[in-house]
Amino acid sequence: MVSNPESTQGNQHLSFAYFQRCIDPIFLTPLNGTTNTCAGGGCHDTVTGTGGALRLIGAAPTLDVSDPANTPAVIRAADIYKNFYSAQGMVVVGNTTQSRLVVKPLVLGVFHAGGQVFPNESDPNIKLIKYWITHPAPLGQDEFSTATYTMFTPADPKTGTCNTQ
Ligand code: HEM
Repeated sequence: MVSNPESTQGNQHLSFAYFQRCIDPIFLTPLNGTTNTCAGGGCHDTVTGTGGALRLIGAAPTLDVSDPANTPAVIRAADIYKNFYSAQGMVVVGNTTQSRLVVKPLVLGVFHAGGQVFPNESDPNIKLIKYWITHPAPLGQDEFSTATYTMFTPADPKTGTCNTQ
């Protein structure tokens, strides 16, 4: 019998500020001593990639989330937001074991055409991805909620370090 319990996470949003500052750089970092990146051609590049539904624009400029000119409408129209939206699509909010963004690069019980990208679950990149997945914006608030700034120490999306616990 297939059970499909209603997800209490419902339509909870992940943090855009933490994604831009702490997760997107993971996709741009050369992997395992090669020049290859997750967002690279043949992998998850939005034009030349073959990476399933995870589609990334490697050269997407970052945006200053504390600049009032960067309204939600402006950010949602930006390339960096396309990376956010695609990566969020690879996540079950609050559940790291069911999130493809975790299990694929670790080859945790699933096939990944890109191979094993990270050695194990205590890899610093995986810790950042898991923290993003398990710290969504409060229910009813959107991906730009300033409540998510507590994911940085100090709680500043521009200067704070990315928390992982
Ligand atoms: C941090 C780096 C990476 C992450 C987070 C990642 C994540 C993912 C995810 C979530 C999927 C599933 C997409 C879907 O279900 O539609 C996927 C698939 C794929 N990835 Fe990656 N990947 C990474 C690196 C790479 C690299 C370096 C390559 C190329 C060498 C690559 C090639 C692919 C391909 C071809 C697929 C589609 C086939 C499949 O589902 O396995 N990936 N990856």
